[in-house]
Amino acid sequence: MKFFVDTADVAAIRELNDLGMVDGVTTNPSIILKSGRDIIDVTKEICSIVDGPVSAEVVALESSAMIAEGKRLAEIAPNITIKLPLTWDGLKACKVLTGEGHMVNVTLCFSANQALLAAKAGATFISPFIGRLDDINFDGMDLIADIRQIYDNYGFETQILAASIRTVNHVTQCALVGADVMTAPPEVIRKLAQHPLTDAGLAQFMKDWEKTGQKIV
Ligand code: E4P
Repeated sequence: MKFFVDTADVAAIRELNDLGMVDGVTTNPSIILKSGRDIIDVTKEICSIVDGPVSAEVVALESSAMIAEGKRLAEIAPNITIKLPLTWDGLKACKVLTGEGHMVNVTLCFSANQALLAAKAGATFISPFIGRLDDINFDGMDLIADIRQIYDNYGFETQILAASIRTVNHVTQCALVGADVMTAPPEVIRKLAQHPLTDAGLAQFMKDWEKTGQKIV
């Protein structure tokens, strides 16, 4: 499963990328607001750090305006993925932009039918939002599993990009049900390394080592 990082925090992206943990980046208008930076400037900097797909989201609501914004964003770098909302206009823009060779991430997906439409419109990625479904008492992971089954039934090549990941359990479940990609905030990716038994085991080893009085270097 590929790891995308869901942030425009350049320092965090750089740190995780140096560790080989970043296969791509996703942003959205709320993330750009949080960064306090100009969308073009910050996206350009992210693309200079990360080789994989970097999603930048349009804000127009009508298809021809989405296409114009998408093309402007795609000028930033060759690894830009144009992010479009899962609306009828977004699907129209997806069809045109993928037809012209751009990568497209169709976002704000909350149903299997929406994912089916995105695949038929040629999306490179579909972004089902797990956490936001869990927030309203639906099981976001069931949606990932349903989309996996549907895409496999018909051989759709659209990649399932599990989004709105809030917990480390979400990451495990995504890997188990076969999401192609998951995108999570840096803090969730860091938490994947944590385990209380690792901490307890290390503390014991340090205590015993001190008693040996030895040094390695
Ligand atoms: C994905 O592309 C979105 O940017 C993101 O995962 C949304 O997550 P949230 O529901 O935590 O805002």
